[in-house]
Amino acid sequence: MEKSGLDFYDDEAVFTNYTEHRQRLDTPNDTLEKPVMMDLIGIITDKRILDLGCGDAAIGREFLDRGAASYVGLEGSHKMAALALQTLAGTSGQVIRQEIETWTYPPAAFDLVIARLSLHYVADLKRVFSNVRQTLDRQGQFVFSVEHPVITSCDRGWKAGTLRQDWVVDDYFKTGLRVTNWLGAYVKKYHRTIEEYFYLLQEAGLRIKDLREARPQLQHFHDIQTYERRKRIPLFLILAANKGK
Ligand SMILES: C[S@@+](CC[C@H](N)C(=O)[O-])C[C@H]1O[C@@H](n2cnc3c(N)ncnc32)[C@H](O)[C@@H]1O
Repeated sequence: MEKSGLDFYDDEAVFTNYTEHRQRLDTPNDTLEKPVMMDLIGIITDKRILDLGCGDAAIGREFLDRGAASYVGLEGSHKMAALALQTLAGTSGQVIRQEIETWTYPPAAFDLVIARLSLHYVADLKRVFSNVRQTLDRQGQFVFSVEHPVITSCDRGWKAGTLRQDWVVDDYFKTGLRVTNWLGAYVKKYHRTIEEYFYLLQEAGLRIKDLREARPQLQHFHDIQTYERRKRIPLFLILAANKGK
């Protein structure tokens, strides 16, 4: 039985597998996604930050240590929210256990909203983007990463638990629900094309400032073979937008 994004991370086996997976050397999150996010986010000093689907909130702790004014992590999974609370213990960081889709976003309350690899679990992004726009203060910035559309389009050719050797891109323009077996369970994700992300942002009144595909950069890798492998296909799509007028 397939699970929604947050129920998936509350599954005992998935939670253990995921936390172990994130500790590995040269995970794509560390080598590809985070460097681009940090580059696009830029200076965080004195910023009020909201993180949608914050997971363990490790980035929140890092932001606060580096001088962010505040950090709020929104997280739907009970297990992840508990882990995030542990990570932020002794800091001013806050964790709210709530779904990205249903939280009441306070108006003009944040300078930076981020969402790292959580929005491909959300069915109605139009509403979320409009909420993000309203919760950003003037000059506010929105930076988010999702699994790259060439990855979400189709998981044929991928046997869970094995190193993928070939990638199949198929049904690219059939957007919507996908069910994938990952980390020991079936999870629901939503496939969107690059242009769909672009127009959803634009329609929500968010002005796109940058788009990246997390091209591998050697300096972030310990293992040269992993670096070479990551040149084969993009894993992440990362977009930065501003609150338009
Ligand atoms: C791949 S993890 C990424 C966690 C963190 N952002 C990071 O990059 O380390 C995705 C996270 O999004 C959360 N999530 C998924 N769907 C959600 C939803 N609808 N509302 C709130 N959180 C959600 C999951 O529980 C999980 O913690």
